[in-house]
Amino acid sequence: MTEVPRPRILVLANQKGGVGKTTTAINLGTALAAVGETVLVIDLDPQGNASTGLGVDRKARKISTYDVLLGESSLAEAIVATAVPRLCIAPSTLDLLGVELQIAGDKDRAFRLKRAIAELAPAERREQIPPFTYVLVDCPPSLNLLTINALAGADSVVVPLQCEFFALEGLSQLLSTVDQVKKTLNPRLTIHGIVLTMFDPRNNLATQVVADVRRFMGDKVYETVIPRNVRVSEAPSYGKPVLLYDLKCSGSQAYLKLATEVIQREKQLRAA
Ligand SMILES: Nc1ncnc2c1ncn2[C@@H]1O[C@H](COP(=O)(O)OP(=O)(O)O)[C@@H](O)[C@H]1O
Ligand SMILES: [Mg+2]
Repeated sequence: MTEVPRPRILVLANQKGGVGKTTTAINLGTALAAVGETVLVIDLDPQGNASTGLGVDRKARKISTYDVLLGESSLAEAIVATAVPRLCIAPSTLDLLGVELQIAGDKDRAFRLKRAIAELAPAERREQIPPFTYVLVDCPPSLNLLTINALAGADSVVVPLQCEFFALEGLSQLLSTVDQVKKTLNPRLTIHGIVLTMFDPRNNLATQVVADVRRFMGDKVYETVIPRNVRVSEAPSYGKPVLLYDLKCSGSQAYLKLATEVIQREKQLRAA
C-alpha cells in the first residue's frame, strides 16, 4: 500500500477577535486550492463564520466539529464540499460552546482534534477521496481548550495581525502559549508566519505598525500584506470566498500571493 503523505496542518490563531483569522482561513484555503492544493478547513469557532463564509448554512450542518471533538463522529463524516473545487470544510455549530465543559475532565482532552485528523488518512484510502495536502484550522478568539486542541494537533501556527495601533499587544501572550504547547503537548509546533491584515496605505499609523511588527518579528512576517478591501468583507454575506466573488480585487490578489508564499515556506521547511 502506498503511503499517503500527511497534510500540512496550519492553525489560524490569535486570541483577539476581528483580526482576520476567519477571513484568512477562508481565502488562504481558497487560494491554496486554486493553485492545485487539496484543502480542508476545520471550523473550530462556535460562531461558525468560516462555515457560513464558505456557503454551508446552519441547516446543512448535520455533523459538525462538535460531534468530532466529542468522538461521536469521525472527521471524514463531518466534511462537506464547497463551491470551490478541492476545498472542503468541517463546519461548526454553537454546540461547540459547551465542548470545553464536556471534555474538561478527560485525560486526552487536548488531543481530540489531533486524533481526528490522524484518522482521516485511513478514511481517505478507504473511500478513495484525494488526500488533503493542507488542513487549515480556524480558531475562536480565545486561548481556550478549542485553540489548545488546534495547537496540539498542528504543524505550524499562522498568526493574523490587524494593522492597527494595538497589533502587537497580545502577541507576546500568544507566542508564550505557543511555546508552552510546544514544551508540553506538541514538540514539533512552529510559527509558520505572521500575516498583516486590513492594511490601509492612507493611514500613516498602519505603515508604522507594519514597520514595527517587521522589526519585532523579522522574517517571521510574510512579505504579503493583506489590504483592507471592501470586497473582502462583502463576500461572506454571499457565502463565497472573495476569490469567487471578485477575483480581480486587491484582496483576492493578496490572498493568492500569500498562498504562493506559504507553499514556498513549506518547501524551505521540508528541505531544512
Ligand atoms: N482585508 C480585509 N478588508 C476588509 N475587511 C476585512 C478584511 N479582513 C477581514 N475583514 C473584516 O473584518 C472583520 C473581522 O474579520 P474576521 O476574519 O472575522 O476576524 P476573526 O476571525 O479574527 O475574528 C470581518 O467583518 C471581516 O469581513
Ligand atoms: Mg473568526
